[in-house]
Amino acid sequence: ARKFFVGGNFKMNGSQAAIKVIVDDLNNAQLDGSNDVVIAPPAIYLCKVLETIKSPVEVAAQNAYFKNSGAFTGEISSEQIKDAGIPWVILGHSERRSLFGDSEEVVADKVKAALAAGLKVIACVGETLEEREKGITNDVVQKQLGAIAKVLEEKDWAKIVVAYEPVWAIGTGKVATKEQAQEVHADLRKWLASTVSAAVADSTRIIYGGSVNAKNCGDLGSAADIDGFLVGGASLKPEFIEIARTKK
Ligand code: 13P
Repeated sequence: ARKFFVGGNFKMNGSQAAIKVIVDDLNNAQLDGSNDVVIAPPAIYLCKVLETIKSPVEVAAQNAYFKNSGAFTGEISSEQIKDAGIPWVILGHSERRSLFGDSEEVVADKVKAALAAGLKVIACVGETLEEREKGITNDVVQKQLGAIAKVLEEKDWAKIVVAYEPVWAIGTGKVATKEQAQEVHADLRKWLASTVSAAVADSTRIIYGGSVNAKNCGDLGSAADIDGFLVGGASLKPEFIEIARTKK
């Protein structure tokens, strides 16, 4: 069975005070560890969150560069994230792809560097509304995941969580229906079976992101191939604790 995974991507939101409230709430919630719960604050707050968050909640960076060190002003490497004690990194988020030019090749290089550094990766894929309307959703997400799969060995998949985040559902309040998400998740799992292995397809968590909240998480989470969520806006609110407690 795949352990349910709930990630909170704060994006470029929060302050020392606001993030302390979220961390205190999560600590007070005393989550039982039946789900993996991972929060991704902005880089400037990672170390403080790592020092103050209690088990079982873990911490993720939102991005990492593919070089280990050097003259790359403003960037942070996976080696540095690992050195700071952070176990996870989100890579390939659609905002990185569309706003900051992270191509499929760059995302693959970043995933490779993250695994080499010993990090676990939340690897994001997703189609735009235009691509969905053209009927090419599966081609788009399989190409995005394919670029990543090319740099992985079979054993590396144990360190990867795939996040399916349709761009049209991110921050829009337009959540994918359970049927829409399940269909893409099932197709991604089939693709994993045919291009990687049946074992990897069976064990890899495929989580959904895009307007997940406390009201829709139970329904979405009941779909056979939805193994958790990557939550944006609602991860900044008290309702994140309810989402983190989703029962499969
Ligand atoms: P929202 O939950 O705000 O739609 O964001 C989803 C997301 O992009 C998580 O990475």
